[in-house]
Amino acid sequence: LQASAKAHSNMALIKYWGKRDETLMLPHNSSFSVTLDALYTTTTVAFDAALDHDILILNGREAEEKAKLKVSRFLDIVREMAGVNIHAKVTSQNSFPTGAGLASSASGFAALACAASKAAGLDLDGKALSMLARRGSGSACRSIYGGFVEWQKGVKLDGSDSYAIPVASPEHWPLSLLIATVSDKQKKISSREGMAKTVATSPFYNSWLNTIEEDLAQAKAAVQNRDLDTLGKVAERNALRMHATMLSADPPFLYWQKGTIAVIREVESLRESGIPAYFTIDAGANVAVLCEPSHAAQIKEKLLRLREVQNVIVSGPGPGVTLL
Ligand code: DP6
Repeated sequence: LQASAKAHSNMALIKYWGKRDETLMLPHNSSFSVTLDALYTTTTVAFDAALDHDILILNGREAEEKAKLKVSRFLDIVREMAGVNIHAKVTSQNSFPTGAGLASSASGFAALACAASKAAGLDLDGKALSMLARRGSGSACRSIYGGFVEWQKGVKLDGSDSYAIPVASPEHWPLSLLIATVSDKQKKISSREGMAKTVATSPFYNSWLNTIEEDLAQAKAAVQNRDLDTLGKVAERNALRMHATMLSADPPFLYWQKGTIAVIREVESLRESGIPAYFTIDAGANVAVLCEPSHAAQIKEKLLRLREVQNVIVSGPGPGVTLL
């Protein structure tokens, strides 16, 4: 009745933005990401008949109500699948500081899906784990696998064809990703809220959807060919198009801070000086920079010189979820 798992976060290169079903967490578009070796969550789940409610300890402290509720709802899904009727204590630790503006829902729900299903006596394969993790947070379904991963949106109403598949192993291409944190402020609009507002109100949303298949095909081919220039250009354009759907929502919203623009400009000037570097930005202010490992140290130093940049975490492609 107890199990532990470790899962790594991921960075989307083709973004998931918008749901067609908010209960089953089914996306309007397919997405593509790289799992990050530097950012991970380790989670232990212990079902215990003596408990009269679920307990969530996050980074050594009792979690706030909102996080507890999300985890309890997720455990309900596992309990129903396994026919288990008792509460659990969940203990979860991130490898990165909380409040650093780094999302932990992908690694968090991937680790929770793996640990909770095992603790409840289920023996799920990668596909089933991916679909389960998706119910906690969409992007978590991609963190089941290591390396380069596609989340196929699926078309079925019950979500049985909406899960991640591995596209290339971490060893295939040891690309570097530099995560530059530029703000530790809690964002005002969560990804979940932001994508719902966008789907409901942006006149550009359908145009966004029309760009995905081509971008996805190009990104996957670029990974197969280890072609940083193509991958970087597709990732930048895809990220900016996603942010354009938010700028065109009603009311519009923007996650960027001063530091976001500062990093974008630095990436442009690096490229002008002959160093291949490309950016991508999730639903937040921080920027991830893609580059060859041989340029990572030099680019990190440049980014750290920017006044608005607080920290730079260097990561490579990481592994999929593992039971501990
Ligand atoms: C911009 O997976 O955090 O990072 O499914 O509502 O939990 P929920 O949202 P979440 O959204 C991630 C949005 C994104 C793009 C991406 O990771 O693909």
